[in-house]
Amino acid sequence: MPSIHACLFDLDGVIVDTARYHYIAWREVANALGFDLTPAQNELLKGISRMESLDIILAIGGVELTDEEKVKLATGKNIRYLELCSEMTPADTLPGVRHFIDELKEKGVRIALGSASKNARVILQSIDMLSYFDSIVDGNRVTKGKPDPEVFQLGAADLEIAPENCVVFEDAVAGVQSAKAAGMYAVGVGEKSVLAEADTVIPGFENYTFAGLNNSLS
Ligand code: BG6
Ligand code: MG
Repeated sequence: MPSIHACLFDLDGVIVDTARYHYIAWREVANALGFDLTPAQNELLKGISRMESLDIILAIGGVELTDEEKVKLATGKNIRYLELCSEMTPADTLPGVRHFIDELKEKGVRIALGSASKNARVILQSIDMLSYFDSIVDGNRVTKGKPDPEVFQLGAADLEIAPENCVVFEDAVAGVQSAKAAGMYAVGVGEKSVLAEADTVIPGFENYTFAGLNNSLS
């Protein structure tokens, strides 16, 4: 593997534990429509845009709605999601990730965000990490969501780094597929059984170092 010049991070579930807030808010939508959303079903929504997530949820419940009704539900979900996020502070950053990014910056590695979320900047601001990123690619910039490689291709292009010198950190199956489709090294953050397509999987960033990352590449 060539040397690492850039690391691209997903946001929800990698930098901050917002994945559980997305789940709470979507589960309330499902419950209001008369069915439940299991943790396994929720896994299908990770990394997927807001409207696509709603379509998946409606298919699970066998519910058909008009476009207008869908927009209303998605807007309501987002209001609830942001309400759940509103209490977030820098203490909500996932353990070790800030320290790891600090180390990468010291080593001269460029940092990008690659997220499907349209709320990415608000979330980064609330955990005081907006200034950490040399490039931010969020749900407002992409035209094709994960597993399409666009989100990470745009980040690498912003940084002017070749894909083979990029490492992506992802907690979602669709995100790992996106990284691989972009020709990048994919580090899954979570469980091996779920993120089987990643090049390597870590449980989280606690005690994780640049040397540890380089070891897994060699
Ligand atoms: C991704 C999450 O990061 O962002 C998904 O994993 C979410 O669960 C998607 O649907 C879009 O987020 P938002 O904040 O634009 O609704
Ligand atoms: Mg994620």
